[in-house]
Amino acid sequence: MPAEPLPICDYEGSDYQTSFWERGQRNYEDQAEAVALRRLLPPCGDILLEIGAGAGRHTPRYQGFARVVLLDYSRSQLRQAKERLGDGGRYTYVVGDVYRLPLVPGLFDAATLIRTLHHLVDPPGALRQVREVLKPGAVLILEYANKQNLKAVLRYLFGRQSWSPFDPQPVEFARLNFDFHPGAVRAWLRDCQFHIERQLAVSYFRMPVLKKWVPLKMLVGLDALAQWSGAWGQFSPSVFVKARAVGECRHTPPETFFRCPNCGHFPLSPLTEALLCPACDRRWPIHDGLYDFRLD
Ligand SMILES: C[S@@+](CC[C@H](N)C(=O)[O-])C[C@H]1O[C@@H](n2cnc3c(N)ncnc32)[C@H](O)[C@@H]1O
Repeated sequence: MPAEPLPICDYEGSDYQTSFWERGQRNYEDQAEAVALRRLLPPCGDILLEIGAGAGRHTPRYQGFARVVLLDYSRSQLRQAKERLGDGGRYTYVVGDVYRLPLVPGLFDAATLIRTLHHLVDPPGALRQVREVLKPGAVLILEYANKQNLKAVLRYLFGRQSWSPFDPQPVEFARLNFDFHPGAVRAWLRDCQFHIERQLAVSYFRMPVLKKWVPLKMLVGLDALAQWSGAWGQFSPSVFVKARAVGECRHTPPETFFRCPNCGHFPLSPLTEALLCPACDRRWPIHDGLYDFRLD
């Protein structure tokens, strides 16, 4: 866990789901991602962690899992997710920070991190936390924004862009919005004890003119074909990676679920409408069905 709090791209109060996805003409991107997920996600499992779940756009796509934990830093995004998906026992809503996951080690069979890495100043720190909560052999589906995309390469080669898409350093194109180099992401994954099994190049046709004139079904079909090229080279704006957790994990007593993001202790003691950390005395409230582990 980081000693000092890291800056976070806070979506509190944002209407991202409506403005970006529902009114933003992004059916192509959404469906291309659905194809990638179908290809990479294990067909079934006990428990999946969706990190940076937002308003739960992808959550209905995790049908094969008996239980899904939606984790996001923003309370309002999770409230929107809860409104869309309902309360039913299958979903657990957790307000928390990926750099300080409030979950015990070795809990999950799978995790997804989609359109979230690009907001992180410390991707290796986040990936270490994700690896810790996965069982050995569990699968992580990671999506990241690719700085080595075709448009950036052409702009650079024709002198229209100062930064090199081939440089492994991240590029912060707006505050807390980063594009990453595929080689850097692969190196972070390996350092955090993940084995990369597959890479898909997603959203090659993210151009207004194509989205306007090519029928959606055809564009998604073309994307589905182009995605396989990710095995040889990644020049698309978005890349999906399937990585498997390797190595061992810390032993956790059975029946434990949450840990304290302040001091790392588990188990926590249940109170009425809260969980208490017996080691540091912090109370973590549960309100409107949201387990709230925000430190601020
Ligand atoms: C672009 S949205 C993506 C939402 C969803 N995955 C999707 O694809 O529709 C990014 C989400 O990441 C969350 N987020 C950003 N930084 C975070 C952090 N440090 N810990 C947990 N969630 C974070 C934001 O609150 C936001 O809901």
